[in-house]
Amino acid sequence: MTPETEKIYQHALEVLKENDLGSYTVPTKGLYPFQWNWDSCLTALGQGHYDENRAWTEIETLFAHQWPDGMVPHIVFHVDSDGYFPGPRVWDTRRPAADTSGITQPPVAGFAVKRLYDRATDKAAAAARARALLQRIDAWHRWFYQMRDPAGEGLVAIIHPWESGRDNSIDWDEAFERVPTEGVGDYVRRDTQHADPAHRPTKAQYDRYLYLVQLFRSLGWDNSRLHDASPFRVVDPGFNAILIRSMTDLADLADAFGDPAIAAANRERATKGLAALETLWSEPDGQYLCRDRVTGELIQSASIGGILPVFAAVPRVRAHEIARTIEGWATKVKYIVPSHDPADPRFEPKRYWRAPAWLVTNYMIQDGLRAVGETVVADHIVSSSLELITQSGFAEYYDPTTGEPCGGGRFTWTAAMVIEFLEAA
Ligand code: DGY
Repeated sequence: MTPETEKIYQHALEVLKENDLGSYTVPTKGLYPFQWNWDSCLTALGQGHYDENRAWTEIETLFAHQWPDGMVPHIVFHVDSDGYFPGPRVWDTRRPAADTSGITQPPVAGFAVKRLYDRATDKAAAAARARALLQRIDAWHRWFYQMRDPAGEGLVAIIHPWESGRDNSIDWDEAFERVPTEGVGDYVRRDTQHADPAHRPTKAQYDRYLYLVQLFRSLGWDNSRLHDASPFRVVDPGFNAILIRSMTDLADLADAFGDPAIAAANRERATKGLAALETLWSEPDGQYLCRDRVTGELIQSASIGGILPVFAAVPRVRAHEIARTIEGWATKVKYIVPSHDPADPRFEPKRYWRAPAWLVTNYMIQDGLRAVGETVVADHIVSSSLELITQSGFAEYYDPTTGEPCGGGRFTWTAAMVIEFLEAA
């Protein structure tokens, strides 16, 4: 490492450690004072480079709050904090162990656990920890197909934009119009007190986020009813690709640990999912698109959701086409990968998932591209990521046209991804 990269590495460690509350890590103090699902799993990868034991604990803490039906919730409210809205009283999921939210998030755990295990220096300890998580992760994967793919299409739907992790993506705009806002009542947002409101979702979007939470709460958080009851049901190719990658990785782990039933079940769902993903391919866009499960139509919105499938073993020709699409986007912005097609007039460079670049999605995309030999584009993504850090620090996300830091500061998973990039360099 050069003195410059050594300094960045040390800074990343500082951010990770200051957000570490012992058995879980907050995404950033203030804005997100609890444990978030995919944040934690990706954060564990960074932690694994300096404390393997701590990295396993991060994922174990999350899974200790898995629901009896198999769902792993998107937030675990370990402590009381009035700094975040909507908190546990709004969700009111009545879980005994600790309060949790009632929806899920992109299932990166299978991927993260395999990567931690593969890289472990203490293999015996890692095998014990990974083995203990195997059935829990498998139960979560099974839950997705039972609850979010009731017709057996091979692809799962999200029923709330927060589940995608890409909360206010342009992808959801049209389907979200269908969600009413009557009766939501008054509430006070906290996010806009911690971050610039111009970088955050709008009030109209928040009303709809809350409508869905209230609807699901009125159904007693019974997942067997929520999918069909939700006016918002979207099949996101990125979300499905993350699930498929985690299933493939879990299957490999199950093989290593002598559990052929888990291996076969995960491989079978992954194969079916990959075949079904092809129905979302858009030749003119050179990427996958979302499908609105309520109308059955593809959603004309070229976003990072349709780029992320390179993280799964999609046909090589698709991965190469996606690499060309990213090259096209790179001619229109200074830093890649923007979370939305820069040619789309709806592109908003500073607003959360409506254009900004994020290091976590960059990490997954470059990982997939590297696996099919697209090293030039993959390296470009990594260098863009490190330039953003050098210029603007460890932000939540960045304006891809200027590199300006947006959202929360001193962000955990951004730091974890920097450690990943520098360790691989
Ligand atoms: C938020 O509060 O912005 C989160 O993304 C929801 O999980």
